[in-house]
Amino acid sequence: MEGQSTHIFFFIALILLPSGCSALDTISANQEIKDGKTLVSAGEMFELGFFSPGKSKNRYLGIWYKKISYGTVVWVANRDTPIKDRSGMLKLSRHGDLVILSGRHNTAVWSSNSAVSVQGNDHVVVQLLDTGNLVVCNKNSTHQNLIWQSFDYPGDTFLPGMKLGKDLVTGLQRYITSWKSPDDPSIGAFSNIHDTNGYPQTLGWHGKVLLGRLGPWNGLGFSGFPSEKGNQIYSSEFVMNEKEIYHRYALKTSVVLRIVLTWDGKTLFLHWIKRIKEWAVYANAAVDSCDRFSLCGPYGICSINKHPPCNCMQGFEPRNPEEWGASDWVSGCIRKKPLNCGNGDGDGDGDGDGFWKIEGVKVPDTRRSSYNVSMTLGECEMACKRNCSCTGYTSLDIRNGGSGCLLWLDKLLDTREYDVNQDIYIRMAASELEGLVDSNSSFNKKKRILVMVLLTSLVVPILFALAYACRKINKPPHMKRQGKWYVHDEKNTSLQMEHLDELQVFSLYEVARATCNFNDSNKIGEGGFGPVYKGVLEDGREIAVKRLSETSQQGLDEFKNEVICIAKLQHRNLVKLLGYCIHQNELILIYEYMTNKSLDWFLFDETKSLMLNWPQRFNIIHGISRGILYLHQDSRLQIIHRDLKAGNILLDGDMNPKISDFGLARKFVGPDTTAKTIKVVGTYGYISPEYAVHGRFSIKSDVFSFGVMVLEIISGKKNKDFSHGDHRDNLLGYAWRLHKEGRSIGLMSASLQASCVVTEVLRSIHVALLCVQHHAEDRPTMLSVVLMLVSEGALPEPKLPAFFIEKSYPEFESLPSVDEHTITQLYAR
Ligand SMILES: *[C@@H]1O[C@H](CO)[C@@H](O)[C@H](O)[C@H]1NC(C)=O
Ligand SMILES: *[C@@H]1O[C@H](CO)[C@@H](O)[C@H](O)[C@H]1NC(C)=O
Ligand SMILES: *[C@@H]1O[C@H](CO)[C@@H](O)[C@H](O)[C@H]1NC(C)=O
Ligand SMILES: *[C@@H]1O[C@H](CO)[C@@H](O)[C@H](O)[C@H]1NC(C)=O
Repeated sequence: MEGQSTHIFFFIALILLPSGCSALDTISANQEIKDGKTLVSAGEMFELGFFSPGKSKNRYLGIWYKKISYGTVVWVANRDTPIKDRSGMLKLSRHGDLVILSGRHNTAVWSSNSAVSVQGNDHVVVQLLDTGNLVVCNKNSTHQNLIWQSFDYPGDTFLPGMKLGKDLVTGLQRYITSWKSPDDPSIGAFSNIHDTNGYPQTLGWHGKVLLGRLGPWNGLGFSGFPSEKGNQIYSSEFVMNEKEIYHRYALKTSVVLRIVLTWDGKTLFLHWIKRIKEWAVYANAAVDSCDRFSLCGPYGICSINKHPPCNCMQGFEPRNPEEWGASDWVSGCIRKKPLNCGNGDGDGDGDGDGFWKIEGVKVPDTRRSSYNVSMTLGECEMACKRNCSCTGYTSLDIRNGGSGCLLWLDKLLDTREYDVNQDIYIRMAASELEGLVDSNSSFNKKKRILVMVLLTSLVVPILFALAYACRKINKPPHMKRQGKWYVHDEKNTSLQMEHLDELQVFSLYEVARATCNFNDSNKIGEGGFGPVYKGVLEDGREIAVKRLSETSQQGLDEFKNEVICIAKLQHRNLVKLLGYCIHQNELILIYEYMTNKSLDWFLFDETKSLMLNWPQRFNIIHGISRGILYLHQDSRLQIIHRDLKAGNILLDGDMNPKISDFGLARKFVGPDTTAKTIKVVGTYGYISPEYAVHGRFSIKSDVFSFGVMVLEIISGKKNKDFSHGDHRDNLLGYAWRLHKEGRSIGLMSASLQASCVVTEVLRSIHVALLCVQHHAEDRPTMLSVVLMLVSEGALPEPKLPAFFIEKSYPEFESLPSVDEHTITQLYAR
């Protein structure tokens, strides 16, 4: 009987499986998988079998991708017990225990230790699922019980659907550990563990050294990690109840993403790019030095846009000013005035203390914290005040104005400034607080006077000045203080100039000779802060020379900014700085020369535009997007370019795009930048509404400029000069209308008819429209943009683009009114 049913089973398998009976996703008790045979999941996504990693000859049982990226291993069973020969064999016992046997005597080298008691009708099976999970189940005709699963014992890869965290019932802790080396999957030095002391957060360890942390869940995402909003690739979930605490993610599209802790300690989000058949870094958990655990010590606050990055929180001063001055911040900060609680006011009710709000932060380390999900922020403040060991508090969940209560019971460690709506309240002596409030009001008075002066003395950029001044006033006072630090920065320039070591220093003589003494006939353009010349060095290398027009302080700052910014940047889609020259009043930058000038030179010229066919333009779009992505997140600094436009995209001999002109890049800080701000603006036609009107810029302003560029690349028309007869539409409005009417292709320049790939053109227009949406928060991040351009999944519908004026779309009425007239006025230069 039994033999017969096996036959029938195989018969069915033969019919159902296209590639014969080798592709089975299930084995039953007493069946085995020998080295050389594999188990394949039903959709052929994953495969299980024996393999040897890298150069190693050892054999391991593992699971790897099959359909895509064949051989990329996501899980290994016998990590620490390799088999030296090909005698390995995976077997399932009747009781559900998975074992790996090897050698002549079938010695067990690994076991899942998962045996259960099995009833008469039950039978256990092991199955490889399309999620990459290997499961052992106990089945009878009515029930199916999970006995064991590989997802409970992750290796170095965190796959969609896996839970990272703790099962509070069984005590099982699921965490990620790195391999020892690319050739050795045994447990390495790095681990990412969901820590459940205090309020849960994920910590990254190197042995016993804490390297960094993914902040606690705040309802919208992980504190200090790019927000999930607008992320079209995956969604995270954080669950905390009496039974379990875990973090899990799911993919939103057909995109393949895995998170891996590399053997050298990087946590990378990798996505599979079908077009080029490669894994690309979608995100990196640690991006800059502020991600290093507690770089600034207790009560320090790290701001990546400031130099130095470490500052003390309001009401605190460096514990050791000498060390602090020498950029050694680990000892952190101490209170200027001691707390009164349990100390001065006698009754210990904390009345002598108050709280100071710090806006926009990644919250401090929560290992020594307590929390209550049902308290309001007011109750939270009371609870903190009453308990003298409480140093600060915040909302657990920042959605809908905040709910829940998180209290810190120790020194505040590893706080960083982060561009997100999360605030903390830190405990401070009431007397200290009074001083701060006073200085706050006098500061604002001074600012208002300054605004009055500006209003009466400056005519054209009045509105901009106002917008800027308002922004300053609204800035939290701690920013003001840190701004002062920036003023002390003069000294530190030499420190930052260390980065220039890799750059060549040119003498003025060399530069002058290369450019025929800065001859006008060598002039190829006017950059952000001075003329640009073409030159030829003695060795024949062609260079572009950027000469700072006059040595004003403003120019000097921009010069430093550009040098510091760009010296650290290395990307094939960024123009390369070769060296610099400082000679008395001369400040000169030397770049590689780009033979094909800039994108606008081709794009907006009737004859030259014929030289750019669709594949080239598509390549340019990709290149620019990758360059911006690098600026935004892959480089060590987060850089906002702020002046992306076709004129700043240079083209090399092969028409590869290179982003240039970093003179305006990065946030500037400090109170003395008002004048500069009036001068430094983006370029009309490319700036986003929130930047134009409120002076607020963010990575999303760059995304906006990118969207404009893509529409220009496809249409061959300048956004600035575009007008469409029937509707008074600008280029963005016109593109949007065509898209709504299903006629997007009408936007494409006629010169592309012959070379275009319609799907690529339509997709690019669609992505561009997502980038130019009116509200910054609706626009995708550059990450999503890059991915959307290369993948084939469905895209969300774009909402109204910015600067779109059309009475027939009443939704627009509710938006802040921005009209083209105002913008022109602001940016007329
Ligand atoms: C199947 O197993 C479940 C639980 O293990 C048991 O309650 C049920 O009676 C079994 N059914 C049969 C038909 O044996
Ligand atoms: C949380 O706070 C609420 C409201 O103040 C209180 O009733 C409850 O007992 C607290 N829960 C815990 C676990 O302390
Ligand atoms: C402060 O609160 C923590 C956590 O709720 C508690 O362990 C500690 O005993 C409290 N300290 C005082 C002085 O009440
Ligand atoms: C600082 O001043 C602003 C404007 O005058 C005010 O709204 C704000 O509440 C003040 N901050 C503090 C902490 O007093």
